[in-house]
Amino acid sequence: MTKVGIISGSLRKESVSTKIGKSVAKLFPAGYEAEIIEIGNLPLYNEDIDQDNPPAEYTAFRNKLKEMDAILFVTPEYNRSITAALKNALDVGSRPYGQSSWDGKPAAIISQSPGNLGGFGANHHLRQPLVFLNMPVLQQPEVYLADSFNLLDDNGNFKNDDTAKFMQSFVDAFVELIKKYQ
Ligand code: FNR
Repeated sequence: MTKVGIISGSLRKESVSTKIGKSVAKLFPAGYEAEIIEIGNLPLYNEDIDQDNPPAEYTAFRNKLKEMDAILFVTPEYNRSITAALKNALDVGSRPYGQSSWDGKPAAIISQSPGNLGGFGANHHLRQPLVFLNMPVLQQPEVYLADSFNLLDDNGNFKNDDTAKFMQSFVDAFVELIKKYQ
């Protein structure tokens, strides 16, 4: 079984990012298991507490990441960048020094916004740390979901057929990328 961790950049209970992540999880083929990985419980990264006895939340998160073959990020945009919660998760997963839990895992990015720009700023800011974390990121298709509050129906499926097909093509391309690193 190939395991894909889905990380939502939003901590909101009714987060559209999380809902999109759950919807996209259903598009992976047989043999793939996609699950949301929580980041809201992670204390703000602080090297002082990350010594011999790191917070249990850090250790659990790192172990969970290590189980994954690939990571899908679904993120809103905050002030033209990624959320603090998502950056915190990247930092927590990147340590201890030399033992990053992200290392080498293929990744893909979905950004979303209720506005028209689809979180373009967040999408591209996220690519910068992923280069340093040595995560090969899916290049095409790029996914910037605009008008995101109106994308899903009550069952969490994409309302528009063209959007659903596009998201399936995105998952298919991600699966091909994942295979290259297995
Ligand atoms: C936002 N929002 C926002 N939207 C956007 O398209 N570009 C931006 O730069 C920002 N900036 C921003 C800053 C802060 C602090 C907040 C709280 C919100 C709006 C944002 O896209 C909206 O809240 C999304 O719905 C958040 O996604 P979730 O929480 O539904 O996943």
